[in-house]
Amino acid sequence: MGNDFNYKHKIPRISVFKKLFDSTGWNTVYHATETELKKSLRNSWFCISVYSKEKLIGFGRMLSDGCLYSILCDMIVLPEYRNMGIGTNILKRLIAKCKQENIKAIWLFAAKDKKDFYSKRGFEIRPDDRPGMYYKF
Ligand SMILES: CC(C)(COP(=O)(O)OP(=O)(O)OC[C@H]1O[C@@H](n2cnc3c(N)ncnc32)[C@H](O)[C@@H]1OP(=O)(O)O)[C@@H](O)C(=O)NCCC(=O)NCCS
Repeated sequence: MGNDFNYKHKIPRISVFKKLFDSTGWNTVYHATETELKKSLRNSWFCISVYSKEKLIGFGRMLSDGCLYSILCDMIVLPEYRNMGIGTNILKRLIAKCKQENIKAIWLFAAKDKKDFYSKRGFEIRPDDRPGMYYKF
């Protein structure tokens, strides 16, 4: 599914990406400007942008050291295009890139209610005695 859409290895136009990013509500926490979002995408290791004709409708990216570890970030599909397989297709492409580069492990922090999306696609929850952690500013 999702085959009518174009999946491109590219950074989208930032003004358009900001609208997609803002659609998640995350930016009520980060308050990221277009300049900051542009820097974050440029410093990413691998990005997938999804288009319906010319319209940006989905995105996902990997941060990585290019050798051992990758971190999955900013998986987003516009609400009206969800449940059509696009998120799965983005994830497949990001994982395929990591496999191709012989990355040893992919990490992510699931957003609210997205745990099952990732566990159905091969991700495991870390055990309680080896939890993922983060430092908030
Ligand atoms: C997480 C997110 C990217 C998933 O994108 P998506 O395009 O809806 O993902 P998919 O369509 O591949 O899969 C979602 C569900 O739709 C179902 N689905 C897939 N293709 C379908 C189709 N053709 N018809 C009906 N349902 C379908 C799948 O079964 C899937 O459910 P499952 O997880 O129980 O298997 C999207 O929900 C999103 O942008 N959320 C807001 C931002 C966010 O929280 N991102 C995650 C950060 S960790």
